[in-house]
Amino acid sequence: MLRNTFFATARLRQPVAGVLAQSFPRNSSTTTTTLDAGTEKEVRHHESQASDWWNQNGSMGALHALNEIRVPFIRDGIVSRGTVEPGYVNTTKVLKGQRILEVGCGGGLLTEQLARLGAQVTGIDLGEKLIDAARDHLNSCSPELASNVVYKIEPVDQHAKGNCECYDSVIVSEVLEHVEDKIGLLEASVRTLKPGGSIFITTLNQTIPSWFCGVILSEYVLNLVPKGTHHWDKMISPLDVQRILDTMNCQTVLVNGSTYDFWSNTWRWINNTQMCYALQAVKNKNA
Ligand SMILES: C[S@@+](CC[C@H](N)C(=O)[O-])C[C@H]1O[C@@H](n2cnc3c(N)ncnc32)[C@H](O)[C@@H]1O
Repeated sequence: MLRNTFFATARLRQPVAGVLAQSFPRNSSTTTTTLDAGTEKEVRHHESQASDWWNQNGSMGALHALNEIRVPFIRDGIVSRGTVEPGYVNTTKVLKGQRILEVGCGGGLLTEQLARLGAQVTGIDLGEKLIDAARDHLNSCSPELASNVVYKIEPVDQHAKGNCECYDSVIVSEVLEHVEDKIGLLEASVRTLKPGGSIFITTLNQTIPSWFCGVILSEYVLNLVPKGTHHWDKMISPLDVQRILDTMNCQTVLVNGSTYDFWSNTWRWINNTQMCYALQAVKNKNA
């Protein structure tokens, strides 16, 4: 696994002060019925794929494949913090005792895999059809994990109100590129995190290569994912994410660049973050 040496080459396309100063919709009482127009559009877009969510060869094929690298990334990142019970390290239940929140869990592809490693996972999303798909799959295909997983239709700021500093880890995987109010979402996510806990993020960088492959090739040429899934203005560089998290007392400890091979439906780590990346940041204990 590559270690965090990529900031030197990351280019800041939009000064973070600009990102931080943007006016984002901040509706702390947001519910599934009062989403702002942009969020509503994103969530409905993903809900239109709900029935195909667990089809490995369907429009979510790349997300299924991403588990091959993101699950070990998260697992090893948690182990590296020394909070895993020593007796569980190197076992199939390595995450036993860990409380994890997945923000924007969709149909539960990642949530289930983390529960399979023994974690207690809460998956939240704004799409009712997505949470239905997640619950259906859990109950019908993975009933042995039912006691490890809770799914909720709930915005993260609302969830944070009743779950302040409750989780050992928070996951925001393939979600930031669909969110306008990134600061609001990250701030609420960090609030749910225990001091010393880790936030894990995977997303697309905001670069010409990632836009070309993520939008033009995959949506318009190869038709691998539905048109309108990704947008240039919502992509974000790892440096911007790092700087936003810095303001929330979270120190970035690891950034890995990744890329997707269309022809083999596989992901691999690469030596730069020009395409996509996975990031781990740790919440300061003295915050
Ligand atoms: C590409 S899917 C990723 C699903 C899951 N994290 C995974 O990687 O398997 C993006 C998800 O983000 C959710 N989403 C979009 N905007 C959101 C927001 N503001 N808060 C929470 N979830 C959001 C969508 O409903 C969708 O389920």
